Amino acid sequence: MPTCIKVRRRFLLLSLLAIYFTSFFLTMQVFSMSKDEKEEKEILESYWVHSPFAKVNLVSTEGSLQYLVDEAKLNPQEESAYKKLISFITNELVPPEALQDEERNNYILSEAKRLAQKYRKSLGKLSEDSWEKIFYYVIRDLAGYSDLDVIIHDPNIEDISCNGICKPIYVWHRKYESLASNIQFNDEVTYNNFIIKLAHLSQKHISSARPMLDGMLPEKHRLAATFMREISTFGSSFCVRKFRSEPFSIIDLVEIGTMDKKLAAYFWVLLENKISIMVIGGTGAGKTSMLNTLLSLVRPNDKIVTVEEIAELNALHENWVQLTSRRGFKFGTTDETSISLFDLVKLSLRYRPDYIIVGEVRGEEAYALFQAVATGHGGICTMHADSLDHAAKRLTSAPMNVAEVYVPLMNTCIYVSREELPRKKMGLPFGRRARNVWEVLEYGKYNLISEWSPTKDTFRTDLKKSFLLEKIASKKGLTKKDLLKEVTRRETIITEALKAGKRSQKEVTDVIKDYYNKAKEGEEKMKVKTKKAIDKKGEKGR
Ligand SMILES: Nc1ncnc2c1ncn2[C@@H]1O[C@H](COP(=O)(O)OP(=O)(O)OP(=O)(O)O)[C@@H](O)[C@H]1O
Ligand SMILES: [Mg+2]
Repeated sequence: MPTCIKVRRRFLLLSLLAIYFTSFFLTMQVFSMSKDEKEEKEILESYWVHSPFAKVNLVSTEGSLQYLVDEAKLNPQEESAYKKLISFITNELVPPEALQDEERNNYILSEAKRLAQKYRKSLGKLSEDSWEKIFYYVIRDLAGYSDLDVIIHDPNIEDISCNGICKPIYVWHRKYESLASNIQFNDEVTYNNFIIKLAHLSQKHISSARPMLDGMLPEKHRLAATFMREISTFGSSFCVRKFRSEPFSIIDLVEIGTMDKKLAAYFWVLLENKISIMVIGGTGAGKTSMLNTLLSLVRPNDKIVTVEEIAELNALHENWVQLTSRRGFKFGTTDETSISLFDLVKLSLRYRPDYIIVGEVRGEEAYALFQAVATGHGGICTMHADSLDHAAKRLTSAPMNVAEVYVPLMNTCIYVSREELPRKKMGLPFGRRARNVWEVLEYGKYNLISEWSPTKDTFRTDLKKSFLLEKIASKKGLTKKDLLKEVTRRETIITEALKAGKRSQKEVTDVIKDYYNKAKEGEEKMKVKTKKAIDKKGEKGR
């Protein structure tokens, strides 16, 4: 490993420990439920996050729902041993070479066990169960996110946000939506130190001079934060968008009802033919997830270059270059050390990409992307907009400045949104849906291909109207009927994969690769057959 990385990692661990210990015992406050309270409140659901030490209770109090973290408490003897052990670890811990998730936990745990053995007399005699509990807290506080750790590890949580001290931390629960939790910061210094800890974990800097941060935590969760009262009136704030370690596959999206099989097969054919797609929708509508899923439908050997501010995309595509923009190091307006999305889109052209993918277009990078699409590259992007009309207007105004004649270069537009469902699907009363899919004929002229019905939770998809399929067919010397048959064939493949329970991105990528391998074999066989037929004809003619 290069020395600079080692030094950086050592610095990171030491600074984390330093920050942790400056704020030690001043941490956040968790309001746990007493036995009486538990009886007063109606527990709607309860599940373990770290069994048997930490669980989550979803409770209803006077009609409002709350998210309660319930952790095993240390008794006074355990707490004293815990405090002593932490101080031994601080004094004796040797910074590890690697700081990645599991390795970091294992390293801290093995060191904690070693030191607990070494100082067993000073720490006192405790039961096996007590030690397990103490080690849980040691890992949680040293390698994890302290009182926030349970929320961070709860797979049902999509977003975590804190608006200031003495205010509950809010979570966005997959099933119950926005909920106040029983965790809050009550002390400004502790809170600011926690923000600095988050900044260090995302290998970024935050201070009064640079009070705004956009980063990525080691688990790839997206972090946005502000520091002190420089730009946020209520003091520091943060918002964490949790990253799915197992991203949605196209089969997942079909199963949960975000799109139907026909649409999935249609997108597959489009993406094989370098058709450009734009995903639009509101905040948290599922735009990035949709884009990420579409990536798995790009031909396995096609080269893709992704351009993002924060590396959120998580695809299994092998021929992939992932570029992320960088904020400059210097103060002032002329900062040549910053690298923008616009710079990266321009750079990506030198990589001979089949597809250029921009995580989210907001500024002049849209102009560069459309220029790239105009020169024959495929393009995919997302944009905040609640209708295609607004998206087109935004594209053609400053700072994007895309010419109206260029708008149809983004051939297809998918509008995703989070919708109330007429009846529960997979236990949820709402879900993300591809509400509309249009083919863009020209600026202001759009061909509606698919529409989601809010009363039936079904899709009305009419591919016979598709002019893109017609265009692809004529380019390939096929009829539109042939291509529609091909879409149906792929729909069958998707149905079979769904029936076979193939859900993970890896399994779905294998299904797609297998399809292309078989298609190639078929082509080879056809070529041999044709050659034989020609040879035979030639022999007869002689
Ligand atoms: N089809 C889906 N079904 C269920 N949950 C989804 C779906 N798509 C996305 N999500 C969840 O919704 C949350 C937001 O998703 P995502 O980040 O893709 O949204 P976004 O529109 O890109 O948000 P932003 O506007 O903040 O960039 C994530 O927690 C994600 O796991
Ligand atoms: Mg997004």
